[in-house]
Amino acid sequence: MIKRIGVLTSGGDAPGMNAAIRSVVRTCLHHQLETIGIRRGYAGLINDETVSLSGRSVSGIINRGGTILETARCDEFLTEEGQRKAKDAIRYHKIDALVIIGGDGTYRGAIQLWERWGVPCVCIPATIDNDLNGTDITIGADTAINTALEATDKIRDTATSMERVFVVEVMGRKSGYIAMQVALAGGAEEVLVPEREYDLEDMCHDICEGASRGKRSWIIIVAEGAAKAVDIADKITEITGLDTRVAVLGHIQRGGSPTAYDRILATRLGVEAVELLVNGDSGKAVGIRDGWVVSTDLHVAVKKKDQTRDVDYFYKLMKDVT
Ligand code: F6P
Repeated sequence: MIKRIGVLTSGGDAPGMNAAIRSVVRTCLHHQLETIGIRRGYAGLINDETVSLSGRSVSGIINRGGTILETARCDEFLTEEGQRKAKDAIRYHKIDALVIIGGDGTYRGAIQLWERWGVPCVCIPATIDNDLNGTDITIGADTAINTALEATDKIRDTATSMERVFVVEVMGRKSGYIAMQVALAGGAEEVLVPEREYDLEDMCHDICEGASRGKRSWIIIVAEGAAKAVDIADKITEITGLDTRVAVLGHIQRGGSPTAYDRILATRLGVEAVELLVNGDSGKAVGIRDGWVVSTDLHVAVKKKDQTRDVDYFYKLMKDVT
């Protein structure tokens, strides 16, 4: 029977992680379980950095970005020695099960803990990239899109005022989700994502054609994994001769107060993660599908999400209305 649950956040932080921690702690209280917070993800597990979490410790955090537990990317956890240290800390603190909040690297760590070391684990998807299987959307993606969109809208103001091409680089090393959503919501003229091949000559041809019809400004959204915005901008200037500027949005996309959507999603998924563990389930990732909370085997959840259909659909939609 589970008496004490550990919770940690790992990998890149995502807005809404705090709301998920809060939900986990409060659901544990509801079931009369203790909650131990582990600081700095798997690194904190290895180095035994824990903190007892009460209802009070998570008050006033639902609206805060980042994670009160802090987070890290931890190479040592990939080694057997690192995992053994983590397992020892779990045993020492009498932690019966873990709720692990993060992205695909985090999921892979949880699989190790569960299958190799017998620690019951349930994962909660939190990454701005929205690239995990087993959920329609991950915690943090909605906030990141809104942050990037707000910035893009502002860039549009100066682009139209000064008749310029702007290349806006958003996050997403392997995922074009943020780029595609921002392009659509921001009325961008073009979007480059890692999941889709692009032809710069074609794009410049479209820009020139637009210019000949009297168009005077363009917003090109580039996912960081598709290309570097500066390279694209150089090419555009070289081919079209138009005045081109670059904006790399960077880590502002990971910060800030989570949207209502992310807070509610995090709250629902936090409850489900604890309920699964209480009911003796493990090796799962919780998620949301068609509006309902679901759970998926971690091996399936960790597989790269096939975004091809979505990307094709959204790209066509964007071009049709440009
Ligand atoms: O995984 C989330 C993410 O923000 C990616 O979009 C980005 O490529 C990466 O993390 C950046 O990671 P770091 O902050 O470690 O440089």
